[in-house]
Amino acid sequence: WPFHLPWIDAIQQLKRERGAVIMAHSYQSPEIFHGVADITGDSLALAQAAAQVDAGVIVLCGVHFMAETAKILAPDRTVLIPDPEAGCSLASAITADDVRSLRALHPGAPVVTYVNTTAAVKAESDACCTSANALQVVESMGADKVIFLPDQFLGRHVASMTNVELVLWNGRCEVHEQFTGQQVRHVRERFDARVVAHPECPPEVLEEADFVGSTTAMGSWLERERPARVALITECSMGDNMRTRFPDIEFVKPCNLCPHMKRITLPKIFDCLRELRHPVEIDDGTSVRARAALERMLAVGR
Ligand code: 13P
Ligand code: SF4
Repeated sequence: WPFHLPWIDAIQQLKRERGAVIMAHSYQSPEIFHGVADITGDSLALAQAAAQVDAGVIVLCGVHFMAETAKILAPDRTVLIPDPEAGCSLASAITADDVRSLRALHPGAPVVTYVNTTAAVKAESDACCTSANALQVVESMGADKVIFLPDQFLGRHVASMTNVELVLWNGRCEVHEQFTGQQVRHVRERFDARVVAHPECPPEVLEEADFVGSTTAMGSWLERERPARVALITECSMGDNMRTRFPDIEFVKPCNLCPHMKRITLPKIFDCLRELRHPVEIDDGTSVRARAALERMLAVGR
């Protein structure tokens, strides 16, 4: 990335001076994911890393709920997000009040929330999960009925694999909900490609896929299967980043950009490191309760 190199060099230097570590989600652009990040992965991998990191400063290149999760799990560290406006349609689909109302409607049912939620919603939950361990977390609750929030498509996918009754919410990822079954059939027929989809996609898309999984699970599937040609039905940068990792695989590119993930840029990373700008702050009461839900997820693992 010749045009990016001055920024990459400057960020690397500043990172050493600040004793900082940069974490990047798989949906970050390649110049961030490959150019400046020390730790990369899906939202579960970033949460696991935040719980263990030694550095005094963490720069979270991803969306706001990911930075909040890192801060909750590493409360003594400074956690910076290069653009605090980087939101998520799932995180804004539900409030703490909504969770309390659902509990009142379904007394005794434990609440499992996807990490794509605010700290306040996590604080109302019994356990968090990511797309990598949603089924395992739901089944670990030992209940016949679980309130599962807020992604209805991930929820329906989990419900199809378990006997636990799930109470769902109507949240959706604005990026993955746009894919259609017809698009997937077209890609398969026209390009003779294997199809891998993220569980935030609509059920008709998941039915057409050869494999459904989180971003890290997609990488492991590619490692195992080594298809000649594959379509990753997910955010665009996922394919770009995997292309570098698997140069022998041809990536067909039906993908959608997440406008929130794309708010993070090299100049904003540089600025936030230089000024220690945009630290994530969460009040202690919320943080302690949200941490209990996150730790329950981490205990289940992947
Ligand atoms: P992962 O849990 O697979 O990292 O996905 C997070 C996300 O925001 C997907 O849209
Ligand atoms: Fe949220 Fe979807 Fe963007 Fe992921 S891709 S951060 S779920 S809006």
